[in-house]
Amino acid sequence: MRNPPERYLQTLREHFAQAPQWFNSGTGKPEVPMTPTSGAALTTYQDGKGTAFQRWFHFKEAFSPEFVTAAIASLGYRPTHVVDPFGGSGTSAITSQLLSINATTVEVNPFLADVIKAKLSPLTAEKLLSAAADFQARLHDTPADLSRLAHLPATFIESKDKDRWIFPRAVARRLAQYLTCIEAIEDVDVRRFFRVVLGAVVVDCSNVYVNGKGRRYRGAWRLNQPTPEKLDLHFGQQFNTSFEDVLRFENRPRSQVTVINGDSRTALQQVQEPADLVVFSPPYPNSFDYTDIYNVELWVLGYIGSAADNTTLRNQTLRSHVQIRRAYEGPKRKSKSLAAVLDALSSRRDTLWDPTIPDMVGAYFRDLEMVLEQTQRLLATTGRAMMVVGDSRYADVRIEVASILAELAKSMGFGRVTTREVRQMRSSAQQGGSFQLAESIVELAI
Ligand SMILES: C[S@@+](CC[C@H](N)C(=O)[O-])C[C@H]1O[C@@H](n2cnc3c(N)ncnc32)[C@H](O)[C@@H]1O
Repeated sequence: MRNPPERYLQTLREHFAQAPQWFNSGTGKPEVPMTPTSGAALTTYQDGKGTAFQRWFHFKEAFSPEFVTAAIASLGYRPTHVVDPFGGSGTSAITSQLLSINATTVEVNPFLADVIKAKLSPLTAEKLLSAAADFQARLHDTPADLSRLAHLPATFIESKDKDRWIFPRAVARRLAQYLTCIEAIEDVDVRRFFRVVLGAVVVDCSNVYVNGKGRRYRGAWRLNQPTPEKLDLHFGQQFNTSFEDVLRFENRPRSQVTVINGDSRTALQQVQEPADLVVFSPPYPNSFDYTDIYNVELWVLGYIGSAADNTTLRNQTLRSHVQIRRAYEGPKRKSKSLAAVLDALSSRRDTLWDPTIPDMVGAYFRDLEMVLEQTQRLLATTGRAMMVVGDSRYADVRIEVASILAELAKSMGFGRVTTREVRQMRSSAQQGGSFQLAESIVELAI
């Protein structure tokens, strides 16, 4: 039997390709490819189902762990602090922890913030096994108290006066039992782990599926509705999968990793420790609102309890969508490319599916400028920022996000600014069709 540090390194080698070799040997800057010679780009979630921690929750918009290790490796020295202002599923946070580096991550969505915290928390297999035994013993004797779900919007639970519902009544009753039993778990880390496991299966056990375009009913959903037994099965399987990673990485080193559940435009001000690497992928200005994409989890798990909560959360998200009306001011610094885009969009305002899109695009860059201001404050002189950004297109106007950010960063006084394209993404139907849009890495140094 290998000793725990070896086991940890071995698993890192499996999942985090190149990092451990250079990390331990203390040799100079490694050759780290950011663009793959074949296959999918490192910036995207690849084989998430087969990757430790990524398999805790399907988060399509995640980096691959190799992207984070490559970004760390490209510094050429061992960083002491990594910051990610858009945490998502926590790829940079967990990768940093596995490499024993301090990290701070900000995520606005409280469910996703819990996904990240669950991955980082000091859980042990022993604690989880004993909690699972208690949970199972309690579950079926727990009354199905549907009042626990009384806050849900009308479309969520089957009833006679509706022609569509997300959950059959029997599944809603079982969900209520799960929620009661989860609430009864005393240990906060264990309770969060169970909640995240339930969050990972709740959409699979419903009549809907969710993709970048929002929520859709499954084909022939009335004939194939989920059952409480399906929920039990999926919960059990997901529990085992996540449990396996807890067990496998139980003895990992514990660096200081802080998760801030908040709006990075303001929350980054709380961070004081200088950063060697600020690495992130913000939402793209493509009108998707992550609050919609993860709406079922947010409501069912009780992170939002009313329409007002939903609006509050949306107000804290980056202005990359027009789901709610907000003040839309542009960035303070100049960018010629942005000015040209905003002119072109404004002249086509009548043909856009929402007339406020030009203003939203301007405000999107103000939001990123705010994040860059904090990045500039935090970056150590030897450090760098690495951002993965994607273009968008409205009418026939292409928004070249990397070029605009590079112009803003230069006028903010960043010393070195480079951009490189890493892949072409297929555009969404909402954005007008089947053309390709670039995804790029923008790299900045003081
Ligand atoms: C592209 S995802 C990041 C994925 C992440 N790199 C990963 O590997 O999982 C963007 C994230 O930004 C979050 N977000 C949106 N607006 C935010 C804000 N104002 N502050 C912090 N996070 C925000 C979204 O909820 C989403 O999880």
